[in-house]
Amino acid sequence: MSMFSDIEHVLVTEEEISDRIAVLAEQMNALYSDDDPPILVCILKGAFMFLADLTRKLTFRHELDFMEISSYGTGTTSSGVVRILLDLASSIEGRHVVIVEDIVDTGHTLDYILRNFAARNPASVRVATLLNKPSRREIDVPVHFVGFEIPNEFVMGYGLDYSEQYRNVPYIGVLKPEVYQESAED
Ligand code: IMP
Repeated sequence: MSMFSDIEHVLVTEEEISDRIAVLAEQMNALYSDDDPPILVCILKGAFMFLADLTRKLTFRHELDFMEISSYGTGTTSSGVVRILLDLASSIEGRHVVIVEDIVDTGHTLDYILRNFAARNPASVRVATLLNKPSRREIDVPVHFVGFEIPNEFVMGYGLDYSEQYRNVPYIGVLKPEVYQESAED
């Protein structure tokens, strides 16, 4: 069976994603300049596709760096316990930073990253997230560039996974309930 048969419905289409990224890129193009190039920090793994599409739409000079974060906990909820699996290669001291996230859910992951970055004395930190689930928030975190506000549903695709699968699906979708039930029974 194709993995696409696991998908119950499409929440955000490919076209909606690319149109919205063009708008976010315009907002960023108006804020940043070549005089003081920012570093875009992609939070792995979920934000890799968003970063790849976003960076191509930016007209100012910028650097890219990557950080991999794991939230302990399996399945569809994060526990709030966060760990760095891969740290930045570059120093962000005195630099403008844009954190590029896939989704802000409870806010615990982003809160951890923001506190961690603040200790490194950057010039500024802004946050771009493709998806935002405000109804799930447990900690107040600032988000400056938001792709889509979505309801309280677990989503996958366009970089986001369920059990490390479906990241390659080119749109944002919701899985059939039996997919979660099957893996809970494993
Ligand atoms: P938070 O710490 O609860 O805000 O969760 C942040 C991380 O959990 C995201 O960066 C995702 O990796 C993951 N996550 C949260 N909600 C979803 C979802 O609906 N689908 C896939 N991953 C999610």
